[in-house]
Amino acid sequence: MTGATSGIGREIARQLAALGATVVLVGRGEERAARSAQEVAATRPGARVEPLGVRDLADRAEMRRVAETVLARYPRIDLLVNNAGGIFAPRQETSDGVERTFALNVLAPFVLMERLGGRLRSSGAGRVVNVTSAAHRGQHVDFDDLEMRNGYRPYRAYGRSKLELLMLTREFARRWGAAGPAVLGVHPGVVRSGFGQNNGRASAWAFRLAFHLVGRSEAAGAATAVFAATDPALADRSGSYVVGRAVRPGSPASRDPDTARRLYDACTRLAA
Ligand SMILES: NC(=O)c1ccc[n+]([C@@H]2O[C@H](COP(=O)([O-])OP(=O)(O)OC[C@H]3O[C@@H](n4cnc5c(N)ncnc54)[C@H](OP(=O)(O)O)[C@@H]3O)[C@@H](O)[C@H]2O)c1
Repeated sequence: MTGATSGIGREIARQLAALGATVVLVGRGEERAARSAQEVAATRPGARVEPLGVRDLADRAEMRRVAETVLARYPRIDLLVNNAGGIFAPRQETSDGVERTFALNVLAPFVLMERLGGRLRSSGAGRVVNVTSAAHRGQHVDFDDLEMRNGYRPYRAYGRSKLELLMLTREFARRWGAAGPAVLGVHPGVVRSGFGQNNGRASAWAFRLAFHLVGRSEAAGAATAVFAATDPALADRSGSYVVGRAVRPGSPASRDPDTARRLYDACTRLAA
């Protein structure tokens, strides 16, 4: 799972480890990943939590390296959790020249699903959980400006990226079919995490205030992802959007199959 060194992701890792899973914890920096793995392993006697450090998961070479390392180390993979994500102000580009929100929130999950899908399928009841957001609502995909070169707005870029991740959830579900793995998108709720603390003091304060007023705990947010990862009834609901413990329809735009196919093709080009 990605983004496992803090926030909702660290809690997902703890809860999965407590259930007895061997968790591969992908985190920024070898040392931090190793430290987090030790902390999470303390959740349960005998828990197996293995660190995989990355420099920046938004870089294409790093997305591929994570996938290749996992394939080389683990002959069996039951679950992929694409949790790492963020919002960025002002507009930034990765070392590959890809807009950072799109690269981290959309392209990294795409590459991991593409590369790990076969191993997940051959492992049996494989599953993918993509941590998306209710912020996808009211957004649309702009193929003329996928990386928002014109008129960048951080919240719009974030909302679009979460719409795109939900659409990819549905598109991979369609492509993989009943043979699986099952792919689920989740909204963890509004969660009091470190989200949005990376964009200056005013924005950090606004996020903290909003989380203080309406946020739930990281553990509660993580529980939705763990539910999606483990509930047997969801095995044949691939492509669903899960909020709390219920399947929800998601926005009308998220259910447009033609746009999802086009987005998949665009991601294939951008990930190359
Ligand atoms: N908080 C909410 O209300 C909320 C609501 C809906 C959806 N979400 C989604 O939930 C997921 C987790 O967010 P969170 O709330 O737990 O926020 P968070 O505390 O900021 O955690 C984000 C995670 O992503 C990792 N990450 C960020 N940039 C990265 C990069 N370039 N390479 C590798 N890892 C990177 C972070 O690693 P570091 O530990 O190194 O920073 C961290 O583990 C995100 O996808 C977010 O969009 C959150």
